[in-house]
Amino acid sequence: MATPPDTSKTVKLERYNSYVRKLHSTKLLNASSKLLFRVTLLTALVLILFFTIKYPPLSDNPHHVPPHHHSFLSTSLFSSTSAGGAAWEKQVRHSSTPRRPNGFSVLVTGAAGFIGSHCSLALKKRGDGVLGLDNFNDYYDPSLKRARQNLLTKHQIFIVEGDLNDAPLLTKLFDVVPFTHVLHLAAQAGVRYAMQNPQSYVGSNIAGFVNLLEVAKAANPQPSIVWASSSSVYGLNTENPFSERDRTDQPASLYAATKKAGEEIAHTYNHIYGLALTGLRFFTVYGPWGRPDMAYFFFTKDILQGKPIDIYQTQYQKEVARDFTYIDDVVKGCLGALDTADKSTGSGGKKKGPAQLRVYNLGNTSPVPVGRLVSILEGLLNTKAKKHVITMPRNGDVPFTHANVTLAYKDFGYKPTTDLATGLRKFVKWYVSYFGVQPRVKKETQHTEESG
Ligand SMILES: NC(=O)c1ccc[n+]([C@@H]2O[C@H](COP(=O)([O-])OP(=O)(O)OC[C@H]3O[C@@H](n4cnc5c(N)ncnc54)[C@H](O)[C@@H]3O)[C@@H](O)[C@H]2O)c1
Repeated sequence: MATPPDTSKTVKLERYNSYVRKLHSTKLLNASSKLLFRVTLLTALVLILFFTIKYPPLSDNPHHVPPHHHSFLSTSLFSSTSAGGAAWEKQVRHSSTPRRPNGFSVLVTGAAGFIGSHCSLALKKRGDGVLGLDNFNDYYDPSLKRARQNLLTKHQIFIVEGDLNDAPLLTKLFDVVPFTHVLHLAAQAGVRYAMQNPQSYVGSNIAGFVNLLEVAKAANPQPSIVWASSSSVYGLNTENPFSERDRTDQPASLYAATKKAGEEIAHTYNHIYGLALTGLRFFTVYGPWGRPDMAYFFFTKDILQGKPIDIYQTQYQKEVARDFTYIDDVVKGCLGALDTADKSTGSGGKKKGPAQLRVYNLGNTSPVPVGRLVSILEGLLNTKAKKHVITMPRNGDVPFTHANVTLAYKDFGYKPTTDLATGLRKFVKWYVSYFGVQPRVKKETQHTEESG
């Protein structure tokens, strides 16, 4: 009889094989889940990086804030910044300390801006302490603001990067420094942009101003405040020249309306808390380090690039004219206003007596038609402009401005001395050097290029 085949070895072998298979599949499973975990982690990190770059924090870029999250609603930006350490406080104190007897200690808001940077340098030069505040927003190319900041840094002026609406930051600054004065120039400027981004005007020019006044009224001592209103408050005023007594209740743009609101708000804080306040109505300020959104600046750029420029005329085919005011004259006016500002009278947030409340025009007293501005630029750039004359659209612009500056002259000797041709020559000199433009000297056909 044949013995049955011995299967026990085969069974053992199969069991062993299945054990090895299980072992492999478990290892494979472990390895693939590890791989999956790593891939997920990497994807998450890439996504976080992407969103951080694409959507920077609120305080850095108020213009990119979605409509329902305006920067003036956020109250604790300061707590999320690295500001506030001992080294930072030392910088703040050092920058604000005056270097002349009885010198001022001035907080200049909008110090990286056009007028703010010029005023900061002038104050520092005469021995006052200056601390800047600016949020470096991108209304126009922030690299120009950074370049102004570099200039200020060379003159030992520190600019704190922050928003007017950041109450904890402003309070901290007043805790560290007993400012004697505030030169408040930070604002959303520009008339036409108000139709694109109205909330930025409310956020900076109204909410931001109120925030600053709230902090200033509670400070001990209360500072005197000189701040930038605008000739735009005259709106549709037909009196000529514009005097501080003329009506200012017909603004032609939201920008003008926010500046007018600022004047009324100033009255309130003066009345209730005894803050000494001076509003300055600037008339079309121009010059080196100026604002790229202003006509004299972008005309220069467009003329050099051979692009056509729009020249506005009124509904009645009259030329639009502006009282162009050179930056050095405006700086003198700002310093004159600071020098004649009385002390605020309040303390501990309470009024102790009547306080000074003033408003002044700072203009050039000689309006120039925009066509004349263009022909001066054509001469300086030695290039013909491609002029495109059109009727002024209803965009907030007004047909003419003309300042009566008698009051500023009487109270602090304000007397503009720079005519448009002289001022524009200085502007063009700066422009070609800043942007590295090869100025066209003789040959009309020579190629002109702008870089930077
Ligand atoms: N240049 C003119 O012709 C003119 C005319 C009338 C009035 N003004 C007023 O003068 C002031 C200075 O004007 P400019 O021409 O130097 O403008 P600018 O835009 O060059 O300067 C304003 C500065 O304020 C900063 N800023 C804006 N909002 C801020 C905020 N919420 N917090 C902190 N910083 C903020 C900006 O980054 C900018 O650097 C403004 O109040 C403007 O409305 C100017």
